[in-house]
Amino acid sequence: MTKLLEQAHSRLENMSLALFKEQTMDSIGVGLIGTGYMGKCHATAWGSVKARFSSVITPRLEMLCDADDTVARNCAQAFGFTNHSTNWRDLLDNPAVDVISITTPNGLHPEMAIEALQAGKHVWCEKPMGLTLDHASSMTTAAQLAATKGIQTQLGYNYVHNPAIIHAQKLIKDGAIGRVIHFRGQVDEDYMADPLLPWTWRCKIEDGGLGTLGDLACHLVSLAHYLVGDIAKVLADIDTAHKERPLPDSTTGEIGAVENEDMAQAVIRFKSGISGLISSSRVAWGRKSMLRIEIHGDKGMIVFDQERMNELELFQATGDRSTRGFTRILTSPEHLPYGEFCPAAGHQVGFNELKIIEAAQFLDAISGKKANWPNFEDGQKIERVIHGVSESAKRGSWIETN
Ligand SMILES: NC(=O)c1ccc[n+]([C@@H]2O[C@H](COP(=O)([O-])OP(=O)(O)OC[C@H]3O[C@@H](n4cnc5c(N)ncnc54)[C@H](O)[C@@H]3O)[C@@H](O)[C@H]2O)c1
Repeated sequence: MTKLLEQAHSRLENMSLALFKEQTMDSIGVGLIGTGYMGKCHATAWGSVKARFSSVITPRLEMLCDADDTVARNCAQAFGFTNHSTNWRDLLDNPAVDVISITTPNGLHPEMAIEALQAGKHVWCEKPMGLTLDHASSMTTAAQLAATKGIQTQLGYNYVHNPAIIHAQKLIKDGAIGRVIHFRGQVDEDYMADPLLPWTWRCKIEDGGLGTLGDLACHLVSLAHYLVGDIAKVLADIDTAHKERPLPDSTTGEIGAVENEDMAQAVIRFKSGISGLISSSRVAWGRKSMLRIEIHGDKGMIVFDQERMNELELFQATGDRSTRGFTRILTSPEHLPYGEFCPAAGHQVGFNELKIIEAAQFLDAISGKKANWPNFEDGQKIERVIHGVSESAKRGSWIETN
């Protein structure tokens, strides 16, 4: 990793001219690595962003990569990419590619992102950053170095781009709930609730990294940081409900150990002094995309749940006590950028639209119009929290995360 960073210095020195050209041009070449769940989501976003956000630079879908040749060819054709490859370094060597989406499994992110930054490409990488805090740190160092030459990074924390969440941030800033005094967050899904679900590489720390913390809780932390501020310390506990799982294709009943956590919970303290509680489970039956937050203020409260992603609940302690209650705010064109997708209030945006908003934000950052969030530096703070939770649970004591 250190050698990679040293190479980055010399390669970035030679990039000023190319960069000037890139920032003044009106189109940008896109490369995509990985074509699974997130790969298709990024491909859809790159293909639609210009139609929805007319002021962004026009993406040209240049090259797509997947480990499987047939998959790569079919996906390139389906999403309209000009070229495809099974070797991700072909994207780095391709001068037509200016920005790269990385949507491969977590363990591959660090090498791909660092080398792409060294090659002078902007990088939009899925979360979490890697498997360890060292990975996040190396990626951040590479991004900081690249940023001195105008190269941008972004992490796939889509939920912060929801018009409802953007509105929640505005309500908090405008004092709608008074002084924020507490944060509660819960992120639960049931994709590993079945104990008979076969063992996969995701259960192994060396290949998958953290469990529910890396998969789900990092999204919750992104919302906490976006709405309330950076988390400074955590006191946590973690648990694994299903410690063994049947090995896939085993006819003799062999089992594999589950090395990472199914569930995690922590008492948290923000840098600002505000207290909070967070919890996460990947084995919570019935929960499909529960990402629920409560922001408690001294004059009210805001509540949001991703399973009802087009609604905010707002309580304000004003007026006649007998008529007080939570107001349900349905997203509408007044909640930017909802109106880019639909002119009618309450008709709802979906998960894929969040990725399109994210793509627009990244293109604006690349063209120097607006700063984006979270980039690798912001993402490293999120990683410190999720790894801090894991570390605190091991040590049984508070861990500083800021
Ligand atoms: N932001 C979100 O809401 C969200 C949701 C799900 C997953 N993710 C993240 O997205 C990433 C991918 O997850 P997924 O669910 O899409 O996984 P997936 O298994 O569906 O897709 C992974 C893809 O990477 C490809 N791949 C693997 N090794 C490769 C290599 N060496 N070169 C090229 N391609 C390679 C696979 O063939 C596959 O197409 C993970 O980091 C995950 O945490 C984010």
